[in-house]
Amino acid sequence: MTQQKVTKAVIPAAGLGTRFLPATKAQPKEMMPVVDKPAIQYVVEEAVRAGIDDILIITGRNKRSLEDHFDRNFELEYYLEQRGKHADVDEVQALAELADIHYVRQGEPLGLGHAVQVARKHVGDHPFVVLLGDDIMSERSPVLEGMLSIYEQYGRSVIALMEMPIEEISAYGCVKPERVADQLVRILDIVEKPQPAEAPSNLGVVGRYVFTPEIFDMLERVQPGVGGEIQLTDAIGMLLAAQTVYGFTFVEGRYDTGKKIDYLRATVELAIERDDLGPEFRAFLSDLVRERGWLDG
Ligand code: UTP
Repeated sequence: MTQQKVTKAVIPAAGLGTRFLPATKAQPKEMMPVVDKPAIQYVVEEAVRAGIDDILIITGRNKRSLEDHFDRNFELEYYLEQRGKHADVDEVQALAELADIHYVRQGEPLGLGHAVQVARKHVGDHPFVVLLGDDIMSERSPVLEGMLSIYEQYGRSVIALMEMPIEEISAYGCVKPERVADQLVRILDIVEKPQPAEAPSNLGVVGRYVFTPEIFDMLERVQPGVGGEIQLTDAIGMLLAAQTVYGFTFVEGRYDTGKKIDYLRATVELAIERDDLGPEFRAFLSDLVRERGWLDG
């Protein structure tokens, strides 16, 4: 079956980021640098790699730095040009040409479901993807491409699911799966932040989704759920009663940069993979391990 091509992405970036205070007091967590790029730049680049270049970013307060990052900065370009720093000029200019980026305000941070609902007018009656602006995927783990190919095959919504240690499942949406094929399940049920003993599996919903436009009808009807927020999970629960929803499962390569420990992991793992910084940084890390005696005993 030939499906309508997915051309639009929505990146919610309007949360308060309370897990990362005080850094997020005056700046969005999506703008925090991981090595030398703000988290959201990795997310936009991932969408572009998957062939999507119409991107709507849902912003909240402090949105200015976000918009400026993906815009031209003539003063800086002129300064760099004058000093012969042509590679830097190319890099900052390329950011403004990376994709066709639009912005809309959420108004109040009423929850992820509400943030996605705000995109309805821009997205219209088309399939679209949602990428959380603080979730980074390693390039080695092409999750979005995998999800889009499932959408192309079945024409139904696809949710990214990662295998979690069961004691961490209460921080995620969690699904009851039915195996369809390798890395592919049909979602039979979904619950937000279950206690480990009640969790239907160890598959947690992580920040990548391909949605059919019917998700907007569900979001319209959803009532505030866990934490008093409009939960995307609840809308997915309603959607799967109306049409099949698939899950794409994977095991590694995802960092929730809104969480301090994952942010640190992302910084270290992405830095050691870099050609420019990697060799020196790896040497520093092995010296550190040796000096502190972490491998002894
Ligand atoms: P999180 O639950 O990680 O965001 O939402 P949060 O509420 O900012 O986090 P903490 O728990 O207070 O630290 C996942 C994504 O959804 C966006 C966030 O910006 C993040 O990218 N979001 C969340 C919104 O855009 N609006 C909201 O009302 C809530």
